[in-house]
Amino acid sequence: MNITNLLNIKYPLIQGSMARISRHQLVSAVSNAGGLGVLTSVGMDAAELSRQIDLVKTETTKPFAVNLMLQQNNIPELVNVIVSKQIAAVTTGAGTPKPYFKQLHQAGIKVIPVIPNVSIAKKMELLGVDAVVAEGMESGGHIGQTTTMSLVPQVVDAVNIPVIAAGGIADKRAVAASFVLGASGVQVGTAFLAAKETPISAEYKNMVLAASDTDTVVTGMTFKDPVRGLKSPLTNKVLAMEAKKIDPTEIKEQLSGALEKAVFDGNVEQGSFMAGQIAGKIHEIKSATNIIEEIFTKE
Ligand SMILES: Cc1cc2nc3c(=O)[nH]c(=O)nc-3n(C[C@H](O)[C@H](O)[C@H](O)COP(=O)(O)O)c2cc1C
Repeated sequence: MNITNLLNIKYPLIQGSMARISRHQLVSAVSNAGGLGVLTSVGMDAAELSRQIDLVKTETTKPFAVNLMLQQNNIPELVNVIVSKQIAAVTTGAGTPKPYFKQLHQAGIKVIPVIPNVSIAKKMELLGVDAVVAEGMESGGHIGQTTTMSLVPQVVDAVNIPVIAAGGIADKRAVAASFVLGASGVQVGTAFLAAKETPISAEYKNMVLAASDTDTVVTGMTFKDPVRGLKSPLTNKVLAMEAKKIDPTEIKEQLSGALEKAVFDGNVEQGSFMAGQIAGKIHEIKSATNIIEEIFTKE
């Protein structure tokens, strides 16, 4: 099924959830522009998620989704909020949505896991999910091992549900390529870091605008938690610690709270500025509407 029909949206585009970043301002801007805005729930309790959802609803009447990072320890209470607020869809990461699937689906909420490989895609299809996002390792944030170009066609061949391509998509050529690979839609993260409405520090946006094609690195490879972000004093420090095989617990201490330092404080020394390889193509701050319309208008 076409994801525009599945999700009742104008363009086959999902705004990738971004931890601590994709709050109500960006979500409503994307949904108003005809894509599917996705609200992060990372670091939120039930009351804060509820407040963010209410804010989105005052800013748009269009459908939007909530993202659940499943390793968080308060998922059951967040699921209750999502069900009571009758959200259109949930995207999930970092685990299986199996324990919550029935409750969400019975409430009419579409469930769309983000997956890094064919084997998990097949498991998700068996669970009964509505679509999967196949996310390549050029993406920003937590990543798998396979590139978008290799992953998407393999997932498309392996399942009979819609596959949404993610990782390295920021313009109409990449959307066209995704459709040729068999995808039914795209999920875009990094390009929205530079949206006018995105509530992050000016330092973070400027680092995205200044990035070149080779300015991201992957930290956490040695302790099996790979995360892609812009090169920074913190990534230099962490990579040096990894090279010296320092205890991962000590490295994780450096990383704890680092995303918040980037997002809220613009702390260039200590912040973690997660972004994907496509950051090298993002040179201007634009409204979410401009970003989406440039991707989809024909000329
Ligand atoms: C700063 C940042 C934070 C992210 N946080 C999350 C998250 O909390 N949950 C999630 O499912 N995906 C997360 N992602 C992945 C995006 O939702 C999306 O799949 C990815 O950005 C797509 O690739 P792109 O960055 O090349 O556009 C994050 C990505 C970025 C850049």
